[in-house]
Amino acid sequence: MKIAIMGFGVVGSGVGEVVVKNQETLINRCGEPVEVAHILDLRDFPDSEFKCFTKDFNDILNDPEVGVVVETMGGVNPAYDFTKKLLLAGKHVVTSNKELVATHGTELLDIARERNINYLFEASVGGGIPIIRPMYSCLTAGEATDIFGILNGTTNYILTQMFQCGESFESALKAAQRKGYAEADPTADVEGFDTCRKIAILAALAFGKALDYTKISTEGITKITADDVAFAEKLGYAIKLIGHCTKDGDAVYAAVFPALVPKNSPLAGINDVFNGIIVRGEDLGEVMFYGRGAGKLPTANAVVADVVDAIKHKRVNVIIKWDKYDEKHQSSGENVPYAYYLRISGKAPANIPGGKVVAFSENKQTEFAVLTESLTKSGLDALVCEVKASECEVLSCMRLIGE
Ligand code: HSE
Repeated sequence: MKIAIMGFGVVGSGVGEVVVKNQETLINRCGEPVEVAHILDLRDFPDSEFKCFTKDFNDILNDPEVGVVVETMGGVNPAYDFTKKLLLAGKHVVTSNKELVATHGTELLDIARERNINYLFEASVGGGIPIIRPMYSCLTAGEATDIFGILNGTTNYILTQMFQCGESFESALKAAQRKGYAEADPTADVEGFDTCRKIAILAALAFGKALDYTKISTEGITKITADDVAFAEKLGYAIKLIGHCTKDGDAVYAAVFPALVPKNSPLAGINDVFNGIIVRGEDLGEVMFYGRGAGKLPTANAVVADVVDAIKHKRVNVIIKWDKYDEKHQSSGENVPYAYYLRISGKAPANIPGGKVVAFSENKQTEFAVLTESLTKSGLDALVCEVKASECEVLSCMRLIGE
C-alpha cells in the first residue's frame, strides 16, 4: 500500500518514523508493506531520510497507487478541501485534525460512507489513547450517559508543573511547546478550545448528534490562581481542565471548564501530558481510558493504527455516523446541575442558599471557600446574589466533578 502524508510537522514526521521503524510489524498486521510515496509540505526538509516531498497536492490526488492519505496538517483550511477531494477520489483519509473533524466531520463521514471507504480520526482525541475506536465499536451496545475527562496534554502538563513543581505558567508552556505537545497557537490549549473540539467529537460519537463547537461554553486555565490551588489542596481536591458532555433530555450538553476533582478520583492523579477520559453508561457503569494525550510518537501510533485499519477495510466502510447539527440537539445547560466551589472575599454571611462555608484562607482571613450542593444555573445565580447582597465578592467559581 502506498500512502501519502500531508503536513510534516510533529505528528506527520512521527508517522513517517513509525512507518519506517515498524515496517515488519505493519506487514504482519495488514498483510502488505506500507510505503510512504509522497509527503506534502511547503517547507523543505533537506536532511530527512524521505526523498518524496512535494509542494503540490495534485501529486497525491492524481497518483492512482496511493490508497490511504494521512492528514496531519491541522486547521480547517486547506485540510478540508484536500480531504474532501481525496475522499471523492476514493482514497481513505486518516487524520489527527480535531478542528476539521469537529467542524466538517459529519459531511466527510457521509462522503466516505457513500464511496465505501473510510475517514478515520483516532488520533484526534486523546493522542495515543484508544478512545475513538472503542466509542464506535466496543461501547456501542448501550447508551452513554456522561463523558468527562482531561483531554488536553499541554494544559495538564502546565498545571502539573505549576502546582506540583512551582514552575511559572510561561516556562511550563515553553517546555510543553518544546516537547511538541502544544498546538501551533497555544491559545487553543490554554483557553480550552482544543478540549472543546475534542469533547464535541466525543459527544457526537456517544450521542449520535453533531454539536456546534463554537456554542460550547469554554473556559481555559488562565484564571486559576494560587489561592484557588491552596483552597483546593486544603479541601482535598486537585484542579484539572475538564471536558464534559451529557444528555439533557433529548438534547446534548457539552462544556469545558477548570474543575475541582476529589483527590480520591482517578482523574486527580493524572499528571503531566497524560489524559484520562471517563465514559459512563446506563448498563456499562464507568470505564476509564488513560495514556499520553499528546506528543509525536504516541499520536503517530494512533494515526498509523488507522492506516492499518483502512488497509484492512479497503473496500468496506466502517460505519461511523452521527446526525448533522441541529440547534434543537444542543442544550444550553441551564438545567444541567453541578456542585460548585466558590472563593469569596468579605465576611462570611450566615446563610448561603444551597452552599456551605468550608474553609477560610490562612494568610487572608477575609477570604473563604464555599462548596455547594448540586445546583442548576438559576440555583447558582440565587446563591451568588445572596453572597453579593452580604457585601461579599465572588473571586472565583469552579465546578466539582468526579465525585
Ligand atoms: N495540543 C494538544 C494537547 C495536542 O496538548 O493535548 C494533542 O491533541
